[in-house]
Amino acid sequence: MKIVETILELQQQIPNGKTVGFVPTMGFLHEGHLSLVQQAKKECDLVVMSIFVNPLQFGPNEDFDRYPRNFERDCLLAEQEGVDFLFYPTVKEMYPVQPALTVKVHEGVDVLCGKSRPGHFDGVATVVLKLLQIVSPERAYFGLKDAQQVAAIEKLIRDFHLRVTLVGCPTLREHDGLAKSSRNVNLTRSERENASNLYQSLLLGKQVVEAGEYRSQKVLSVIEEFVRKNVTGTVDYIEVLSYPELGEIEHLSGRCILAIAVQYSKARLIDNIILDVKGEF
Ligand code: PAJ
Repeated sequence: MKIVETILELQQQIPNGKTVGFVPTMGFLHEGHLSLVQQAKKECDLVVMSIFVNPLQFGPNEDFDRYPRNFERDCLLAEQEGVDFLFYPTVKEMYPVQPALTVKVHEGVDVLCGKSRPGHFDGVATVVLKLLQIVSPERAYFGLKDAQQVAAIEKLIRDFHLRVTLVGCPTLREHDGLAKSSRNVNLTRSERENASNLYQSLLLGKQVVEAGEYRSQKVLSVIEEFVRKNVTGTVDYIEVLSYPELGEIEHLSGRCILAIAVQYSKARLIDNIILDVKGEF
């Protein structure tokens, strides 16, 4: 595995004529990230992973400084998984000057995480556009754990005519169902035990839908009640929306997302399930 810190070096080193798969990350790798690499390995000749904690997508009171980092461990994990190029730029390399232009996401940002994280998806879309320009992959791999991010990047690719195929990959979970996340290390022991209830609440919602309840309000109330009784963190949102449009719906039909975000003392966790009326996507 080659570790490359500059854009020029990366562009010089990636050979022509190979199908490149790209896995952008902010590091502190876990099996969720590595599952994206495995998928990319199956479908591409070469896998490029980036590790870059992007300041543009963190709000002023968010955890940019506290975001967990461990580059040495990440290198070992990425190498073991068969990453060919690890792109590890500095903030200065990615943003050498104050950017004169950034991307603004207009649709699907007044719901879910967009509501409490204004500007977050603008920061994500801007850095992903830059990274896609730098790496020029055929395929780019993103986790559906961040379903709103996937929806925004689908629209980035569509609206800017980017020549890349987005591959959305399923959420990898701990044994008790908690979605793997770099932020899980910031949970206390009791919060960690409690956090499996996020997924349990969504599964309950899914069951209710599968039993034939398609009214969003009803599904929402079942999830809310379970969360009120079982989740110790503070609920940021629980929502039932169409996917990938992220529009409000009276009835579930076609692809829909059940999503939750909970703030614990030092970690904000998100999770979702994407359903079509016939089952989990
Ligand atoms: P990060 O949070 O490091 O996540 C990198 C990728 O791993 C994302 O596509 C995310 O959805 C995926 N991922 C995280 N946890 C996962 C899990 N449990 N199962 C499957 N995939 C999982 O998302 C970002 O970084 C940034 O916003 C980024 C796209 C790199 C732009 O800065």
